[in-house]
Amino acid sequence: MTDQTHTDASTEGQQAGGDLFNTAAGWVLFAAGLGLGFAILSDKYFHGSTPERPEELGYVIEGVEDESGGAAVEMTMAEALTLVTIEQGEKVYAKCASCHTIAPGGANGVGPNLHNIMGASVGARSGFAYSSGMSAKGGQWGWEEMNAWLKRPSAYVEGTKMSFAGLSKIEDRAAVALFMNGPDGALQLPEFTPPAAETSEEAADEAAVEQAEANQNDAEATSQATAEAEA
Ligand code: HEC
Repeated sequence: MTDQTHTDASTEGQQAGGDLFNTAAGWVLFAAGLGLGFAILSDKYFHGSTPERPEELGYVIEGVEDESGGAAVEMTMAEALTLVTIEQGEKVYAKCASCHTIAPGGANGVGPNLHNIMGASVGARSGFAYSSGMSAKGGQWGWEEMNAWLKRPSAYVEGTKMSFAGLSKIEDRAAVALFMNGPDGALQLPEFTPPAAETSEEAADEAAVEQAEANQNDAEATSQATAEAEA
């Protein structure tokens, strides 16, 4: 009897424990279900998992893009050359020095010696084995040629051996070209007239023409008035 009671009590106890466990597990499941539900809902409304590009970008940088919406308009080599120094060019040249020497009579390395290269014939240094593309290029190294070459060597000379990606900034290309031109400036700098100066000159010309026309009208009016008075 006592045993019986004991057994009953223990079964009850176990059952109570089991119920408590089931209840707790139920709440945990419920909470997990809620969480999942919210995750699905919020994903549906906020598209958190799929990055989207806004229809209009939040910022527009003035003066960088041209009217046609194309790429940024780069300044000319002539203008860039007025903004840089030989010293800046020497710093840029550090990127070239692993393959090139520039001292007079310097040895050819991975690339040819570059002493007095500005104004010199393209692909014509003695003792250097150029790629066939470079050998066939022809012409001289002027400012524009050097600008195009250093921007993207692989595009300027197809199959070039110069494995150098290029200098993306025109100021860097201008500076290194100025440095290669040397302190004595073997090649003359291209002429550059700032556009602002041209405009004010044109404006002055226009004003002068208008003034002359006005004077002429005045003179005509005066002579007409004199003629009328005389009649
Ligand atoms: C990884 C090596 C390497 C680097 C870095 C390099 N060059 Fe060159 N360069 C070459 C090679 C190789 C050639 C020959 C190209 C050919 O034959 O196609 C060459 C050719 C040239 C030429 C043509 C020379 C001629 O005789 O007509 C110029 C100019 C030149 N490099 C300038 C530069 C400048 C300026 C830089 C740095 C901004 C630079 N290179 C960086 C390897 C290099």
